[in-house]
Amino acid sequence: MEAASGLTGHAIVVTGAGRGVGAAAAAELARLGARVVVNDIDEVAARRTAAGIEAEGGRAVAQPGDVSVRADAAALVARCVDEFGRIDGLFNNAALMAIGDFVEYDDRLLRRLLDVNVVGVANCAAEAVGPMLRQGSGAILNVTSGAHLGLPHMSLYAATKGAVASLTYAWAAETAGTGVRVNALSPLSLGHMTRMTDDYLIAKGHADAPFAAPSPESNAPVVAYLLSDRAGDVHGQVVRISGTGLSLMTHPAIMTPVLDRPVWTYDDVDRAFREILSARQAPVGIAYGEPATAAPAPVVPFD
Ligand SMILES: NC(=O)c1ccc[n+]([C@@H]2O[C@H](COP(=O)([O-])OP(=O)(O)OC[C@H]3O[C@@H](n4cnc5c(N)ncnc54)[C@H](O)[C@@H]3O)[C@@H](O)[C@H]2O)c1
Repeated sequence: MEAASGLTGHAIVVTGAGRGVGAAAAAELARLGARVVVNDIDEVAARRTAAGIEAEGGRAVAQPGDVSVRADAAALVARCVDEFGRIDGLFNNAALMAIGDFVEYDDRLLRRLLDVNVVGVANCAAEAVGPMLRQGSGAILNVTSGAHLGLPHMSLYAATKGAVASLTYAWAAETAGTGVRVNALSPLSLGHMTRMTDDYLIAKGHADAPFAAPSPESNAPVVAYLLSDRAGDVHGQVVRISGTGLSLMTHPAIMTPVLDRPVWTYDDVDRAFREILSARQAPVGIAYGEPATAAPAPVVPFD
């Protein structure tokens, strides 16, 4: 059973694994035979997760640190290589959440979120990808959020998660054919972040009851699968798990047809919108649909 897990003996770093999705994923990875480096900015929490895994007969070490500090990210990956001889996976999970209306915009808060959720993700991935490329194998799993599609009251957090999705697409394009895979997860989990959201929405009168979010553990099998050898052909994807629903998310794409003219005047643009583009506007917020095609765009002359 274990030999087929696709994770046996893998050395995997999990950031923000002191609680929530990260802690549940670290436990599941260890249960499936991986050796885990447990990171969190909260040292006590990181050590608690690692000790819990060891108590269950798994293999884990704690490496507390702040992912937004490049030296901490370097030390995290170095710890994995020193301890286990390699790094096969990175679950790039640590993040901060913020909630607030557009008119409450706080630039210092946005900078802090960008630091942890974007710079932190890039720090850890950049440190991990070198050894992975030298090995010719490895899996990086970033964490985005359905919020990045444009949920109200979550713009700052959403912006950081949109950036994570863009990093994922770009890194996947860059590592294609190297043996290194890069994907992202869009999870859903009861915990600190959903409680923050509920408190805000209820206080503002936008909701009257807490949202019934699924457990952190419900996300863990998807994390484990995407970091395992079984997912060897999954690359450049955003995978969504929302309790009972498992799906892929579409990538942003250039909508067809592409209207073409030698020169666009102000009046031509107005006519293009009145005749074609206004009626084709995409819905704002979470929507469902088929993926775009990678085929060349149909270019339609707009005379
Ligand atoms: N909870 C949800 O429903 C939900 C939905 C979509 C996306 N996500 C994403 O899933 C991931 C996990 O969410 P969660 O609900 O488990 O969150 P959580 O707040 O419970 O856990 C995040 C962990 O990251 C740690 N952390 C924060 N800053 C850090 C830093 N600078 N360096 C290292 N560790 C740091 C925290 O101490 C905490 O233990 C996050 O990336 C989050 O944005 C969560």
